[in-house]
Amino acid sequence: MIPREIIEEIRNRSDIEQIIGSCVTLKRAGSNVKGLCPFHNEKTPSFTVYPGSQSFYCFGCGSGGDVITFVMKYNNLDYAGAVEYLAARAGIDIQKDNTRPERGVSRKRVLDMNLCAARYFREQLFSPQGAEALAYLTEKRRLSTAVIKRFGLGFAPNHTFAMLQYMRDHGFTDEELKAGYFESVGGKSGKPYSIFRNRIMFPIIDTTGAVVAFGGRVMDDSKPKYLNTNDTPAYKKGRNIFALNYAKDSGGETMILCEGYMDVIALHAAGFGNAVAGLGTALTADQARLLSRYTKKVILTYDSDEAGQRATERALQQLTDVGLETRVLVLSGAKDPDEYIKAYGATAFSRLLEESRTKFSYRAAGVLSKHNIQNSDEKIAAAAEICRIIAMSASSVERDICLDEAAQLLGIGKDILKQDVERLRRRNERSRLEQQSRDAYSSARGLGDKVNPDYVRNVGAAVAEETILGLLTAFPEHRDAVAKGDVRLTGDDFITAFGKRVFESVMELHADEAGFDMALLGERFSPDEMGRIHKMMRTRLDLTENGKAVLTTSVTTLKNEKALQNAKESGDRMTAIESRLEQLKRIKNKKDNT
Ligand code: CTP
Ligand code: MN
Repeated sequence: MIPREIIEEIRNRSDIEQIIGSCVTLKRAGSNVKGLCPFHNEKTPSFTVYPGSQSFYCFGCGSGGDVITFVMKYNNLDYAGAVEYLAARAGIDIQKDNTRPERGVSRKRVLDMNLCAARYFREQLFSPQGAEALAYLTEKRRLSTAVIKRFGLGFAPNHTFAMLQYMRDHGFTDEELKAGYFESVGGKSGKPYSIFRNRIMFPIIDTTGAVVAFGGRVMDDSKPKYLNTNDTPAYKKGRNIFALNYAKDSGGETMILCEGYMDVIALHAAGFGNAVAGLGTALTADQARLLSRYTKKVILTYDSDEAGQRATERALQQLTDVGLETRVLVLSGAKDPDEYIKAYGATAFSRLLEESRTKFSYRAAGVLSKHNIQNSDEKIAAAAEICRIIAMSASSVERDICLDEAAQLLGIGKDILKQDVERLRRRNERSRLEQQSRDAYSSARGLGDKVNPDYVRNVGAAVAEETILGLLTAFPEHRDAVAKGDVRLTGDDFITAFGKRVFESVMELHADEAGFDMALLGERFSPDEMGRIHKMMRTRLDLTENGKAVLTTSVTTLKNEKALQNAKESGDRMTAIESRLEQLKRIKNKKDNT
């Protein structure tokens, strides 16, 4: 637990408008400011920052919260990490006041550990123990010492605990080393051992210059070829881009995205300082968004094998989704950029960059390679496939350019192709609208609700819960009423597990001397959950007049639903019927009164 005075101090000194404004372009709209939501793709701004309540909410995707939630989501940090980040930004020393008991290992601690480990690995590489590894890098991979140092490469010796001992000598405990993904314990022996052994170590450095993780490569053909840091308090897979720390300052508006560490390093060594890699996994939406913050255009140069082609298709999708312009560089005569440069040199690679294809040309070439268009059946099939590709583009200008190219490639009149494309677009639009109404229907019923999976089981009760929780988070007087027993309500009255958790946390904080504070919920709930809680609150803020009446009605509804459910569960049909009658009577009375 981080002491709440510190959290309050941090929030007082972290202006939400300023902090969000440094990542999102915000425009004033009345007393609030608006911008394009950084958490989903949109063309018209529905992301609103409320300086008054120091909170944000996106009407498009439902994310919301305070400045801490924002930093958690935007920088992919956990609660403690976000607090540390904001504290550092505001010049507040949390360490000093940090009397909290050991509560897991902090992000900061893992980063310190990583830095210490990176030093150790590098020392090893340049020590007699690392001779073989150094020879591998300089001779087999032909890297200069300068490049090796620039990328901070290192070597993990083939020893079960030498690395661990070094880290312990530098003040890291075994618990910490486990959390940082350096140490594991043998299943049979129960003895600790280092995870990285006899591997070349590649540090993964984020855009702030922190070493967040490592990849370790074997020097022969043994498996697995790479061992990578698993999730730690400082690192989540699929969120970082290798070498972005250098590429972001390379000065252009283009980046070269490849698959491997070695490709990137070879490209940098050959003068292409804008090369980056996605670290093994298929490019994720988070990675695409990260790239879009630093570049306008991405040239994909994945391996030329089939896996590489599939990965290219997926990456094209992700990059386009975040609005990046894309090109595809097709290698011939080599498996990957590293091999290509070794075989043909940097000038030849520059030429390939110049000739890199647009997404459409790349896809069309793929279609044509599968069909012999001298044969008219195959030509029809190829044309149909190409029209489908063109129809996917949302831009009419882009479609027009692609149609020109397709007409050329296929030897078919542009107008004819255009008719087919427009027909496909109408059909896609129809099924999109159908899908949209299906989605609206299921979201109205709470289907696929990840934050509150119980929602759908009893929508009436879930709505009542949200009303109650919205009122309790928005107005202290309602919390008082519940705390004093004027309104009788306990956690057990709630039907959904999520509702119960929120209620109990709110009331627990309210009981604390310093009182309830939305920001403190962030420690107990995920950013998605926080978004939902903010939504509950925000949509009840205008219930200033008749809030008490709404609260009591909702509590009654909830209790009736709960009684009904309990009755159902115990199989006591009489009680169920009585309870239902009771409810009907109440509804009737209410009607009679109005
Ligand atoms: N990768 C991984 N785990 C593996 C294999 C690959 O994490 N078992 C990731 C690494 O980030 C690697 C990238 O996928 O850099 C591309 O894989 P590959 O082309 O096999 O590796 P290279 O780094 O290009 O290595 P090399 O050129 O030495 O074969
Ligand atoms: Mn490779």
